[in-house]
Amino acid sequence: MKSKRYTISKETRERCRISRLTDGDKAKFQSISLELFHYLLDVKNIDFVIHFRVDDEMIEFIDGASFSHQLVHQIIAARNRDYLNIDICVETKDFRKFDMLINDVREKKIDQLLRRDPLLDPQVIRSFVNLSRASQMMVRGGLSPLVATQAREAAGILVSNLMECEVAVGTLSRMVQADPTLYDHSASVAMISGVIARTMLGRNREDSILITQGGLYHDVGKTCVPHSLLNKPGRFTPEEFESMKAHTTLGYDEICRAIEHGSVIDRNVARVALEHHEKFSGHGYPFGRKGRAEDHEDGIHVFTRIVSIADVYSALLMKRVYKEAYDASEALQIMQNSSDDYDPIIFRNFEKNIQKTLVRFDNLEKKAHDTGRIIMVDPGLGTRIRKTSA
Ligand SMILES: [Fe+2]
Ligand SMILES: [Fe+2]
Repeated sequence: MKSKRYTISKETRERCRISRLTDGDKAKFQSISLELFHYLLDVKNIDFVIHFRVDDEMIEFIDGASFSHQLVHQIIAARNRDYLNIDICVETKDFRKFDMLINDVREKKIDQLLRRDPLLDPQVIRSFVNLSRASQMMVRGGLSPLVATQAREAAGILVSNLMECEVAVGTLSRMVQADPTLYDHSASVAMISGVIARTMLGRNREDSILITQGGLYHDVGKTCVPHSLLNKPGRFTPEEFESMKAHTTLGYDEICRAIEHGSVIDRNVARVALEHHEKFSGHGYPFGRKGRAEDHEDGIHVFTRIVSIADVYSALLMKRVYKEAYDASEALQIMQNSSDDYDPIIFRNFEKNIQKTLVRFDNLEKKAHDTGRIIMVDPGLGTRIRKTSA
């Protein structure tokens, strides 16, 4: 794979303050994911500085005085071109400000979404946001006892809130379609896994919380895989595929290390990270485990068999540089075409739930349409909503 390197333009050198980073300085900065950085397109200003690192030069790229969406777009464009020598950062002391701003934007987006689509269940969306906060902490700060506690709490809230909720997976699928910027893969996998465990399979509360955590942690090893590889359009070379596959063992090792350093995480959660690309048919990696661990030594743990269904479904919903986004029924159809890869008992329950939710949403939509919900927009009088009978 060719590695592209970004060079700082003359204009940026003239406009911005740039300093050379020493090893000691590195801890002063915190990286920001591109997903979160996008949220700055929804704010009018910032009260901190966005730094743009190019090799060992740190550029004070955007501050309150220079803030513009055009500058935000410049950084997004550079990141999308997958240069290997750049990073978006804020100073660690400013991270809280950044975090609060992002949370505000997310809250607003969610309020707008709930107003726009009355079929979305607010409790499902709120539980998802909670998980998303825990997953973002994990990506940013790595595994620590504090992050592990947050993850456990968010998993507990999800399981308590959604115990009876049959439309949770459907609501999540609808939310991703309505506003893809709210998507968070690990949080989605956690939520879907928890709902499969508790609502669809009736597993006990403790197990369901662990399975939800398994979903949150399953891809933690991806923080060790280069960004350029994770987002590579097209096929991997055999060497690249090997590096990609390593996120399972790297994730497992990282969770085990965190456990040894005092994080309260169940060993079976680590096993989910290790096994989540194994397939029931035996064609997965890293070991080619097959079937159920309850039946034989080389089988896959039941927590993983749940999380791997959630993982594939969640990945199908989202658009990536290498694939399109699918809606819930298309995603289900694709999974049905390779149903041998999943535990048939779990998959059958999952399938039934999605189909039922889709029919339910369809009926509700028809009903709303038949009732003749008319939205009248009058610039002079504001927005009025009037319902008429069919
Ligand atoms: Fe993965
Ligand atoms: Fe995943």
